[in-house]
Amino acid sequence: MDAGQQNYDPELSESFADALKPGTELLHGQFRIEKFLNAGGFGMTYLARDSLDRIVVIKECFPSSMCCRNDGKVMARSKQHQAEFDAVVKHFGAEARRLSKLQHPHIVGIHQVFEDNQTAYMALDFVRGRDLLDTIEDPRMKLHPRDVKQILLRVLEAIHYIHTNDVLHRDISPDNILIDGKGNPVLIDFGAAKEEATRASRALSALHVVKDGYSPHEFYIAGSNQDASSDLYSLGATFYHVLTGEAPPDSQARVSAIAADRPDPYKPVSGHFPQFEDAFLHAIDKALSVFPPDRIQSSREWIELVDTERRRSAAMQQAEMDRQIELSISRLVQETNKAVEADIKAHEEKSVAEKKEAQRLQKLAQEQARQRKKTLDELAMLDDAVFQEEQALAAEEAARRSAMNPNHDEIHGKKKRRSLLSRLLPFGLLRGTFRGNGPSDYL
Ligand SMILES: Nc1ncnc2c1ncn2[C@@H]1O[C@H](COP(=O)(O)OP(=O)(O)OP(=O)(O)O)[C@@H](O)[C@H]1O
Ligand SMILES: [Mg+2]
Repeated sequence: MDAGQQNYDPELSESFADALKPGTELLHGQFRIEKFLNAGGFGMTYLARDSLDRIVVIKECFPSSMCCRNDGKVMARSKQHQAEFDAVVKHFGAEARRLSKLQHPHIVGIHQVFEDNQTAYMALDFVRGRDLLDTIEDPRMKLHPRDVKQILLRVLEAIHYIHTNDVLHRDISPDNILIDGKGNPVLIDFGAAKEEATRASRALSALHVVKDGYSPHEFYIAGSNQDASSDLYSLGATFYHVLTGEAPPDSQARVSAIAADRPDPYKPVSGHFPQFEDAFLHAIDKALSVFPPDRIQSSREWIELVDTERRRSAAMQQAEMDRQIELSISRLVQETNKAVEADIKAHEEKSVAEKKEAQRLQKLAQEQARQRKKTLDELAMLDDAVFQEEQALAAEEAARRSAMNPNHDEIHGKKKRRSLLSRLLPFGLLRGTFRGNGPSDYL
């Protein structure tokens, strides 16, 4: 079978006169058109070959409501359309360049963005397979609930990736999810995508395609707030279709019914598909809530609601992390206790050593005092002996002098004794102290 056979609709090809003919070369022969695949609001899709003869998909910016082709070149339908057409081409190129930076296994890869024929093009990876719409509409294809869940989780990963890069897809539907040969989903068709922060210009609003059943009600209102929950509404509608075989009632009809106090025409899937887990069904119903605050707010939230295995392994990982933290804490406590004990021991040893040193110094001081006292006592005793000797000598001298001249001798005797005391003054003082048995100031 020729590459891209499954994606090719010959009737459509013939009916689209403005499409590039097979064999047309683009970008100085770097790409050669093989087949027309489809036409949408923003452009035309072709199967082509690159200079290395590889199959690629080429998307051409061709907003047919405001342009036409003339001798291969794309031009505004009229002067009035020129500004709008230029804005759309500019937007197409900018989006393509931004999307070329997004790389994810479940998002179609962009090879190249270029300009030719006065319009913009992007060359995409060719995904060999069929889209989810074909798959669910083919009675020979029966998706197992396990496969459905796996497709959903993988698309959610891709949506999480684009949302964290501030891009909204805005056209999620079964025909924009391709399923490759291995059953892996690939999200395509970012033609309606925009950065969350940017306001759609008037030209883009005019082109803004809504898909009944898949678009949330805010997509019908120009300039309305659109966020992650808007894309998740469309994903809910896509999986509602997978389960029930048809898209849910369109959101405008639902809003009108609620406004008129009539019951919401939406029939929940919860409780009707026993082959799916309750959490899986409940998440689809929640994503499809009419009012944005009631919906699932992020892909992560949806993944956590649905992925029981991941939840289980996340819980186990958490438990393991808690156990590791507990272990680290108790190890830390033990180490701290050890350090504190070592500190206390070191402190005790230090104070014992200090006590010993104090005792040693005290003993030393006592010994010094004892030695000093001993020396002083000895000096005092010496002083006594000298004093007594002096006295004896003085008495002798006095006796001798009084025998000759009693008055003169007395005076000289006293003088002599004073001069001896003054020579031994410190000892004399000490002697006086020790004799009195009182404490000494010298100790
Ligand atoms: N990378 C691809 N690999 C294989 N087939 C593709 C690829 N891209 C697009 N197709 C096929 O071409 C069809 C149309 O492409 P796509 O969805 O990108 O544009 P669209 O819906 O026609 O236009 P618009 O961008 O205006 O919404 C798809 O439904 C799919 O069958
Ligand atoms: Mg499409």
